Amino acid sequence: MANYNIYFSPTYGTEKVAMALADGLHGDFKAINLCDEKDDFSLRLNQNNLCIISVPSYGGRVPAIAVEHIKKIKANGAKAILVCVYGNRVWDDTLSELQDVAESVGFVVAGGVAAVAEHSIFRQFATGRPDGDDCDQLACFAKQLQQKLDAGNFDKIVLPGSHGEYKVYNGSSFKPTANEECVGCAICADNCPVGAITHENPDETDVQKCISCMRCICVCPVGARQLDKNAVDAVAQKMAPAFEGRKKNYLFI
Ligand SMILES: Cc1cc2nc3c(=O)[nH]c(=O)nc-3n(C[C@H](O)[C@H](O)[C@H](O)COP(=O)(O)O)c2cc1C
Ligand code: SF4
Ligand code: SF4
Repeated sequence: MANYNIYFSPTYGTEKVAMALADGLHGDFKAINLCDEKDDFSLRLNQNNLCIISVPSYGGRVPAIAVEHIKKIKANGAKAILVCVYGNRVWDDTLSELQDVAESVGFVVAGGVAAVAEHSIFRQFATGRPDGDDCDQLACFAKQLQQKLDAGNFDKIVLPGSHGEYKVYNGSSFKPTANEECVGCAICADNCPVGAITHENPDETDVQKCISCMRCICVCPVGARQLDKNAVDAVAQKMAPAFEGRKKNYLFI
């Protein structure tokens, strides 16, 4: 069985979760990075293929660009384990939407996981997650998923959240900009998953295209791309109750 580990992970939290699950499953997984527009996403699969498909929750939804890329796949009955990664608030309709998108291109959903990773905007929430305890738990989830795959039971499962009428998400107002430290290397432009930064003017951001994924902040080698710290702190303070406590990882099979 050929395996693919397909993930959209601007700031690497989702990738860490996806890798931890793949490590606990049998066989090798070929990585398909949905942030890298140079990758070919038009996979043609069959029922012998297994894919882990992982996305972060953005406002309780699957990031629209990830939906666009996943829709290029023709799964033809390939099995899928669907993963939503959330930043210690809640994932709302992310898993249910991911299931609907995966099934619309022909995947048979074998299981779902919701897992916590550090919040990519408010880094004070779920800091350092997934940590050792999370990885132990994800290894345990992988074992249970492998048992299910080996048993060959692919009866329809329904992942939690709305199917069809999803929570409305209108995007985030947090758009990183570059400061005077910018050396013009354009690494941010090469890595932006939606082309919101140009090679010609990498210190500028097209706010209409920007999806606030924070990847440019992560990849900038001199720390020149930033958010308005006061604005981030103000919203974080307001939203703090929703982020309280150590949120859990969940397995659905
Ligand atoms: C624009 C945006 C919206 C987000 N919305 C949510 C949310 O609704 N609930 C939540 O728990 N976390 C939310 N997060 C946090 C991410 O889901 C979390 O940090 C995830 O680990 C990011 O994945 P990445 O590290 O692979 O980029 C949001 C992050 C961003 C950037
Ligand atoms: S990665 Fe940083 S230094 Fe390089 S162009 Fe972008 S903002 Fe400037
Ligand atoms: S410009 Fe916006 S979309 Fe592009 S990497 Fe930065 S935060 Fe993400």
